[in-house]
Amino acid sequence: MEHRLLLFLVPLLSACTGLHANDRPVIGILSQELSVYMQEKFPGNYTSYVPASYVKYIEAAGARVVPIKINRTASYYENLVNSVNGILFPGGAASFTAIGGYSAAAWELYHHAILKNQAGVYFPVWGTCLGFELLTYLAAQREDIRTDCEADNVAMPLQFKPGYNTSRLYANASDAILKILTSENVTANFHHFCITEANLTQAKLDSDWRVTAVNKDTQGLEFVSSFEHKQYPIYGVQFHPEKNAYEWKRTNNNPHTANAILVQQYFANFFVNEARKNSHQFPSPEEEDAALIYNYQATYTGQHGSAFEQCYFFTD
Ligand SMILES: *[C@@H]1O[C@H](CO)[C@@H](O)[C@H](O)[C@H]1NC(C)=O
Ligand SMILES: *[C@@H]1O[C@H](CO)[C@@H](O)[C@H](O)[C@H]1NC(C)=O
Ligand SMILES: *[C@@H]1O[C@H](CO)[C@@H](O)[C@H](O)[C@H]1NC(C)=O
Ligand SMILES: *[C@@H]1O[C@H](CO)[C@@H](O)[C@H](O)[C@H]1NC(C)=O
Ligand SMILES: *[C@@H]1O[C@H](CO)[C@@H](O)[C@H](O)[C@H]1NC(C)=O
Ligand SMILES: *[C@@H]1O[C@H](CO)[C@@H](O)[C@H](O)[C@H]1NC(C)=O
Repeated sequence: MEHRLLLFLVPLLSACTGLHANDRPVIGILSQELSVYMQEKFPGNYTSYVPASYVKYIEAAGARVVPIKINRTASYYENLVNSVNGILFPGGAASFTAIGGYSAAAWELYHHAILKNQAGVYFPVWGTCLGFELLTYLAAQREDIRTDCEADNVAMPLQFKPGYNTSRLYANASDAILKILTSENVTANFHHFCITEANLTQAKLDSDWRVTAVNKDTQGLEFVSSFEHKQYPIYGVQFHPEKNAYEWKRTNNNPHTANAILVQQYFANFFVNEARKNSHQFPSPEEEDAALIYNYQATYTGQHGSAFEQCYFFTD
């Protein structure tokens, strides 16, 4: 009897606890066009780049990375969503309105990610800094709702919003992580644009998105530091968790304390665990191999003054 009960319970348990989690997750990281500064510093007629810190961040949590190119066909983006287990929109300085750029590619990816989730397929998306701002732009049907602000090169603790502890992003965080997040300067901010709660409300995004933490810029303007979609596994953070362990520019306030590294690992583990709940695969191992970041070599950019120690540059 007990034995039969167990047999009956095992499939149920695995469905609920993710015993059948995907342990070979692949994350697509969207590339973006080079800023004029980068084009001058790194001549090579490159069409796009991905900072290596995002790649290492994802790899350290147990996933592999596929770079997503800009200026491709709609079917390229649809096929990628069908092949990877989650997508990350990195920070940077790309324009939202450039034709064939970062935001145009993201619009395609976001559309397919939403369709997947609407169809009951768990498909996570993460945006960091510009990528977080981009999520608001996409959710607002390509309306730029950002406001000018000053939070460049400052590390801060988070100010949680009431109810943050029932959000997906923080519900399972340990007391130790929550204490570090709220009391130490562990989140790296490098932005001249902010999203305020009023901006979300005005764009009618407050019904779908839950603001979980805020901060104040150097002028005292309160901005959103983290949010998540209420229904779908879509997350945005205005700060840069990937910089803590991987970016070392001497004049930048990247938090490198032992606790800051734990915070970085918390966010990376969270997102990759979300991706483990998705079972997409490339059509064949050969196609997977051909898409992985291992086909490219990182360039040491930090020694030439870049805020990124290493970048992947693409020509196609
Ligand atoms: C970039 O492209 C231009 C025009 O095709 C060419 O003249 C130049 O040599 C290229 N630069 C590099 C660094 O490859
Ligand atoms: C996009 O690709 C087309 C060719 O397929 C090219 O003509 C165009 O310049 C590219 N646009 C950008 C922004 O790179
Ligand atoms: C969330 O935090 C509030 C206030 O600190 C507390 O009253 C509540 O019990 C917490 N909820 C959960 C699910 O931990
Ligand atoms: C949080 O932990 C619970 C219990 O282990 C788990 O069911 C849930 O999926 C976790 N939430 C997230 C978002 O990982
Ligand atoms: C965080 O940084 C601010 C500004 O640099 C500083 O005033 C504050 O003391 C720091 N807080 C901690 C806990 O180190
Ligand atoms: C965004 O919010 C700021 C401050 O709350 C406000 O000044 C600005 O007008 C808002 N912009 C939009 C597009 O809602």
